[in-house]
Formats: sequence, C-alpha cells, structure tokens
Amino acid sequence: MSEQFAIIIGSGFEAFAASGEVRHIDTRFGEPSAPVCPVNFAGSNVLVLPRHGEDHSLPPHVINYRANLAALQELGTDSVIALNTVGVVSDVREPGQVAVPDQIIDYTWGRAHTIYNEPGSGFEHIEFTQPFSRALRTAVLAAAEAAGVDCLDGGVYAATQGPRLESAAEVDRLERDGADYVGMTAMPEASLAMELGMDYACLSLIVNKAAGRGEKPIHDDVESSTLSARSQAMQVLKEFFGSR
Ligand code: HPA
Repeated sequence: MSEQFAIIIGSGFEAFAASGEVRHIDTRFGEPSAPVCPVNFAGSNVLVLPRHGEDHSLPPHVINYRANLAALQELGTDSVIALNTVGVVSDVREPGQVAVPDQIIDYTWGRAHTIYNEPGSGFEHIEFTQPFSRALRTAVLAAAEAAGVDCLDGGVYAATQGPRLESAAEVDRLERDGADYVGMTAMPEASLAMELGMDYACLSLIVNKAAGRGEKPIHDDVESSTLSARSQAMQVLKEFFGSR
C-alpha cells in the first residue's frame, strides 16, 4: 500500500480543489480547523487541511492542533508536509524564498500541546532531538532540487505565540538563541505529529524580514514576497507528488 501524505496549508494558500468527498472528522480532541479535503495533487492522492480554517478565521494561538493532527492520523496519514510562513531572522535567505528547517525552538505558551492529558492513561517522553523527519526533509529537498528551486536546507525555526508580530528586541533575542526563522504554527504541530507517530517536515515560505531587520514595514514586505515564495513552494510540491 502506498504512503498517505497530508499537507497542512497555512497563510497565503487558497483551498485546493477536492477530488473526493471532504471528511468531517470529530476527534477525541474535538473538531479540526476544517474538514479534511482529499486532493489529486500531480497524480497523487493527498489530504489537505487548512490550519487557519476554511475562512482563515483561526489565529495561531487558538488553532486546535491536537484535533488537526489526530484527524489526519485517523484518516491514515503517515507523513505530513506543513506549509507555513516565516520571517527571516538571520541573513540566511531573502524574503520570497523557501526553506526546510531542521531544528526548532518553542516560545509558545498555553497551547494544548500533547496528546497525553489523561491522568493514569500513560504517556511517553518522545525523543525530540531531531524534531523533523529526516527522510521527509530529504525527500522535500530532493524535489526542490529536481524542480530547480533554491530551497534552503536546514535552519532553526523559532515558534512564537502571536498573533502579534515580535518586537525588534524579541527578534534580537531569537537571533542570540540561534534562530534563523520565526513563525507561529510549527509548535505544537511538530511534536504532536511525533506523538501520534507521523513523519512531519515544514516547507517554510519566507515572506518578510523579521522585526527590526528590514527597511520596509513588515506587511509591505509580506505583500511583495508572498507570491514568489508561494510559487516556489508549489513547484516543490508538484515535483514531490508528481514523482511519487
Ligand atoms: N514573525 C512571526 N511569524 C511570522 C512572521 C514573523 O515575522 N512572518 C510570517 N509569519
């Protein structure tokens, strides 16, 4: 049987056209952000879930990450490619490009971040030394290379709480901590995927210079960079799923 892939889409991506019946799932953690949509992507059957909801109404700190990941798992997902937008903290890349981070630092708080919530029902200390699936990262990077997309291999993703953007001093601190990108959604997504036994990797769209790093207002930067980053991400995904 072939591997079941899912894509969690974030800001800057419109819904994909469904190729079958959308799945309304009610998980033990509640309802996911939206029904899960089966999509024929470059010839592959892929499950698509919009993280912020169908109408993009859910800010990062109120997303039910547990329900999202549990819904994908219930539908048989083995591997999740998470699309997310990030600001670039260090000078590794420019806005408009894409990256596949290999490390993460979690600055979020108050989010339901683990499946192990019931006293007495047991838990596991998952090893999070490598927070992303090496095999999935490698496959995404190979697809980027085959598609001729200059995708940055690695880098540290700092997950902040949002929905506000950071202050310049906060970004200075992230940089001192070793962060290369800053975004708001990869945690607790990455660790929940691991707790639920699914491979997980991010394909991050760099859409702005982080606070205090650029000349332009951040929203202008996002507006002028999103199209290019999105088109590169789509090229990578087309190659990834087209060659499966
Ligand atoms: N900070 C946090 N999250 C983001 C940013 C940012 O600058 N850009 C896109 N998502």
